[in-house]
Amino acid sequence: MTKAYQHPSRAGGKRLRPLLTLLCAGAFGGQKAIKIAQNPALALEKIHTYSLVHDDLPCMDNDSLRRGKPTTHTIYGEGKALLVGDALLSEAFLILAKTKIKNTHNINYTACLVQELALSAGAHGMIWGQWLDLSLAGREQLTWKQIKTTHLQKTGKLLGACFTFGLICAVSTLNKSISPQKLHTLYKKIKIAGMLLGLAFQIKDDILDATKSHLELGKTAGKDHAQQKTTAITLFGEKKAEKMCVKYTQQSVTLVKKVLQDPFFTPVNKTKLSFQAELYAQMNLLLCRQK
Ligand code: IPE
Ligand code: IPE
Ligand code: MG
Ligand code: MG
Ligand code: MG
Repeated sequence: MTKAYQHPSRAGGKRLRPLLTLLCAGAFGGQKAIKIAQNPALALEKIHTYSLVHDDLPCMDNDSLRRGKPTTHTIYGEGKALLVGDALLSEAFLILAKTKIKNTHNINYTACLVQELALSAGAHGMIWGQWLDLSLAGREQLTWKQIKTTHLQKTGKLLGACFTFGLICAVSTLNKSISPQKLHTLYKKIKIAGMLLGLAFQIKDDILDATKSHLELGKTAGKDHAQQKTTAITLFGEKKAEKMCVKYTQQSVTLVKKVLQDPFFTPVNKTKLSFQAELYAQMNLLLCRQK
């Protein structure tokens, strides 16, 4: 089982979710926050990897190539790939629950993190998006509203969690008291910022699917067309889809900047500023990624 369990993680991947989680923690809280955010960052990558193992199953996207390697089910069989995904999902919650975060008298940050992962990954988030994705495949005359909702759920919610995890870890390290209401307000704003980035990310994923080869992507190309999935490209064409990526990324960056300007996060020091600059740079770099 160990070999099968390790296969999808060892295959590689861009590790974008942990990167964003750590950068966001650093941008809001500096080095201390980054240390705390390590387990949350790893938990998100586990969830993401599980989602890919299941996404590739014959009953979903039926894909044989992932991260440049044969998919888990093509090597170990469908049943075992299902179990590998389940194990990764459970492991994520174990890792997250072990986060060394200080709970204060009015806020249980560990509970906040666990709830946030459940909300982002489950029926209120990624799973709902994947459900919609399956339901809409093959259907004609879909609207952008339907596709946008699907993207925001299946991809946006988990990317949103990178930002909320970063925020929660940072807030726990700042020696300032915060009311649960104030934390919730900051949480809601940063979540939307992450979801907008996820929307841009999925539009770009669909552009790459339509324009690159399997060798460049490390996963099968042209899948969306083959499975009759409506995307921003099928609705608006490639050029407009690229423009939409830029628009949603800009909206996301603007919103992150706004949350960072909240008086709660003052004073700002050099370390935080450098993490903020790196965070914006990485968000923008997603626009020109090649896979
Ligand atoms: C692929 O995600 C699935 C989507 C949400 C579009 P990534 O493009 O981040 O995949 P890896 O982790 O780099 O393999
Ligand atoms: C998958 O979207 C999103 C997930 C939640 C896994 P896709 O089906 O487009 O992802 P790829 O192209 O297979 O990586
Ligand atoms: Mg899919
Ligand atoms: Mg897929
Ligand atoms: Mg895709």
